Formats: sequence, C-alpha cells, structure tokens
Amino acid sequence: LRKIRLPGWSTGPVYFSHRLKSTSDCLREMAGQGAAHGTVVWAKEQTRGRGRRGREWFSPPGGLYFSVLFKTGPLLEPSFALIAGGAVIGGVKKRVKLNLKIKWPNDIMRNGNKVGGILCEKQGELLIVGVGLNLEIPANLKNSFSPGSLPELKSHPPGEIMGLILNKLEEDLEVFQENGFLPFRNEQRRLSFLLGRWVTVDNLQGQVIDYGEKGQLIIRCADGTEKHCWQGTVMVLEEE
Ligand code: BTN
Repeated sequence: LRKIRLPGWSTGPVYFSHRLKSTSDCLREMAGQGAAHGTVVWAKEQTRGRGRRGREWFSPPGGLYFSVLFKTGPLLEPSFALIAGGAVIGGVKKRVKLNLKIKWPNDIMRNGNKVGGILCEKQGELLIVGVGLNLEIPANLKNSFSPGSLPELKSHPPGEIMGLILNKLEEDLEVFQENGFLPFRNEQRRLSFLLGRWVTVDNLQGQVIDYGEKGQLIIRCADGTEKHCWQGTVMVLEEE
C-alpha cells in the first residue's frame, strides 16, 4: 500500500495498491486501527472483490475500484447507496457525457447493462462506500462475460475521476445526513433505470411507480395494491 496524493481530495489520505483482495476489506481493517474520516483505498485489481449480498465482484485489471471511509454517526438511512450511485454518476458526468442510470438499489447501468456497483457498509459510526466501475472488459474474457463498460473514461486520469466522485459523495453525504432522501428524490427519479418497468423484487411482482420518502421502491402489483420494498434483488420482466 503506497500513500499517494490525489489532486482535489484533501479530506483524508489516499492509499494505492496494484492488487488487493478487496479495497473495502482493507479499509475496514484500517478503520479498526483508527483510520481518519475521508481515508481512501484504491486498487488496480482485486482478487476477492465483494458485491452486495455476499456476491463476488469480478475486478480484473483495467477497472476502477476504490473505497472511502466516512465517520457519520450511528444514524444513516439505508438508502444512501442510491445517493452514492447518484454521486458516482454526477462525478463521471463532469468529464464524460454518458447516459447512466441507477438500478435500485446499487447498480450503475448503461444501455441496460451493468457497468458498476456500489457497496455501502455501515458499522456503528463508520460508513465504508465501495465503488467499482468496469472501464474495459479484458479481451480474453469478452466471450464468456458480457457486462457493460465505460471505455470513454480511460482517456482521463483515474485519479481525476475518483476525485470528482469523492467530492460529490462527501457533499451529498452531508445533505443526506441533515435532510435524508427527500432532497434527492427528483434526481433519483430522473436517474432511475426501473421507473415504469415491470419487475420482481424477491417474491413480489409489479410495476415500479415511484420512490418513497426514504428511498424505498414503490411497486404496484397486478391486483392494484402498492408495496414498499426496502431491500431485495430486482429483476426486470420486460424490456422496452
Ligand atoms: C455490487 O454490485 O453488488 C456492488 C459492487 C461493489 C464493488 C466495489 S469495488 C471496490 C469495493 N471493494 C469491494 O470488494 N467491493 C467494492
């Protein structure tokens, strides 16, 4: 782990490594040893990248993988993953104009393909936000594996993109802590990959009609009842 300077990020120290198991795991260990608010861990490659719900996050060289530590106090609504997704999209858009969407609760989508994911982990006063973006899919994997990617970002220094994302994250976290999800609801509606679509959320099936005041997904089932989903895995039933 090498300490580096990231232009545009002065909230906490930044550590870089060519290869780590998981930037979020590494940062959690550092947090246990008293790492400061704003500490960032960035790796070129992860050998055991983690996704939500215990899934693996495939992290070959050529992607952008980093985690940031925020000391937030104990109360933080779970919908911060959505806000973090919005911050990632906002940061990226400052450099490259791309049509990116958020698939509730934590996937970044481009043209219907997942190009990135957010992993928010809260432990007492600590919040670790892990961000993974596919910039390119290695040529030897192209046949077996076809997620989306963001090759346009490769012509920009990764540190610059990270700095933009980190600053937006920090700014949005402050607003979120004061005011919750509501100030972000309109932006989230605009960024939503799911609004209007028919989906299943775990055992429920219905059409996504809105976000609730705390970022929960509201779906209308075939019998007309409205259900609020606070967590779960969403599958889209039909493409437009
Ligand atoms: C998901 O889609 O389920 C979330 C994926 C999050 C991946 C990032 S990459 C950096 C950080 N370190 C990890 O091990 N995971 C997150």
